[in-house]
Amino acid sequence: MNETVFLNGEYISKDKAYISPDDRGFYFADGVYEVMRCFKGNLFCFEEHLARLKRSLSEIKLVFKTTDKLGSICNDLIVKNNLEEKYADIYLQITRGVSRRMHSFPKENVPPTIYIVAYERLPYINELKNGIRTITRPDIRWLRCDIKTISLLPNTLMFQEAREKNASECIFIRNGVITEASHSNVMGIKDGIIFTHPDCNLILPGITKKVIFDICRESGITIRENAVREADIYELDELFITSTGDDIMPVVEVDNRPIGNGTPGPLTRKIQSVFFDMTYKELGGENKTWF
Ligand code: PDD
Repeated sequence: MNETVFLNGEYISKDKAYISPDDRGFYFADGVYEVMRCFKGNLFCFEEHLARLKRSLSEIKLVFKTTDKLGSICNDLIVKNNLEEKYADIYLQITRGVSRRMHSFPKENVPPTIYIVAYERLPYINELKNGIRTITRPDIRWLRCDIKTISLLPNTLMFQEAREKNASECIFIRNGVITEASHSNVMGIKDGIIFTHPDCNLILPGITKKVIFDICRESGITIRENAVREADIYELDELFITSTGDDIMPVVEVDNRPIGNGTPGPLTRKIQSVFFDMTYKELGGENKTWF
């Protein structure tokens, strides 16, 4: 697809967007990113994504001065690509710029590379309706998973393993508990209470996770930041993952064994429905037409 993209201060067509092989993103995965959703022209949780981006930049000591312009650039891309009436993903990436390969940071006058692209993407309707299969693998990632870095090789390797096993996500286990998954946070339900790993250096503080906390507070659902133990996975009544890509996605199978009765559970459905009222109107409330 030949979208209009934003690269280093310019709106250009994607086939004209070139990045130097000396970019530190290419050499070292030295950069950070965000994935956002735009629901028919409305950027979802933009301020939260911006705050997390600023934190990621600061944690890797990448100086990027114009974060205040990013909201209007994202909105411009929605308009320029005729996405105002669509469901769209916005991908934003900032790297430490272009310089001859060396481990130390380049000189201060080297500008960061910034790239933003927006494109239509529909929700994964069938999966949201029927739930997904997952696998578990040891969490082999580094100890700063709270930074949203583009260095995602362990995540992509584990996700590929899931795909090859006909599953849609790989859940990570560290020290006997579920941390998160290759590109989502994980929430287990037992006796009407939701359990999820606390925010810390071992997981990404998900924006969707934050939205779930708000939904639970408003709906009187108890949610606790206690990680689910690997040994307790099959005792759970329900399990779901949350992310900007997957929304509130029921998990019906882990390593070929069912969770609960093997179908999406009632509390997951309730949270989905509140979430859809905020996001995809067609999926929630009175206008429900997709399922
Ligand atoms: N992934 N944990 C990990 C490791 C993630 O990569 C993501 C998001 C999440 C959920 O975060 P949020 O709710 O803010 O999207 C948790 C994005 C969507 C991606 O890499 O495509």
